[in-house]
Amino acid sequence: MIRLMKNDDIFEVERLEKRVLKETLGASFFDQELNLNPFAYYYVYEHNKEIIGYIGLRIYDDICEVINFVIASLYQRQGYGQLIFDYILEEAKKRLVKTISLEVRKSNKQALNFYYKNDFYKENVRKKYYDNNEDALVLIRDV
Ligand SMILES: CC(C)(COP(=O)(O)OP(=O)(O)OC[C@H]1O[C@@H](n2cnc3c(N)ncnc32)[C@H](O)[C@@H]1OP(=O)(O)O)[C@@H](O)C(=O)NCCC(=O)NCCS
Repeated sequence: MIRLMKNDDIFEVERLEKRVLKETLGASFFDQELNLNPFAYYYVYEHNKEIIGYIGLRIYDDICEVINFVIASLYQRQGYGQLIFDYILEEAKKRLVKTISLEVRKSNKQALNFYYKNDFYKENVRKKYYDNNEDALVLIRDV
């Protein structure tokens, strides 16, 4: 089941990020997004009372920015990411979004495959964007 993220989910989403990405945006970041940012839309995928994935979005006018998108390692490559993405695409359409954008590490082949399969294309490269000096690819797609 896909539903909006709540304050009670913050700890679990933080743990999910740490497990999958070895880093997290952090509880206080999520707290601010959920409670103070009127442009933020965060969704979780709950399976047997466990959060196995989440996506964070910010929607400004007709642009939707993906802040992060994570599926638990055990559940990857089983279509859950696609389910979440199809869901948020419908939400974006309802909110009259025209463009979705995101940043992804150049080396993240798994995510790049996912996004290219979902009609994203490379718009830009942000050189040495990440802490380890890795480039970020800016991908966008029409809605
Ligand atoms: C990117 C991510 C969210 C995709 O979610 P997912 O549930 O694993 O993806 P799905 O099972 O729905 O896969 C859909 C398509 O994505 C591509 N894909 C997903 N995982 C892949 C992998 N390991 N290798 C190659 N392609 C992959 C495939 O095209 C796949 O379609 P197919 O299985 O029919 O070939 C997930 O891999 C993830 O959490 N990665 C780690 C976190 C991350 O990098 N997030 C992106 C931050 S920008």
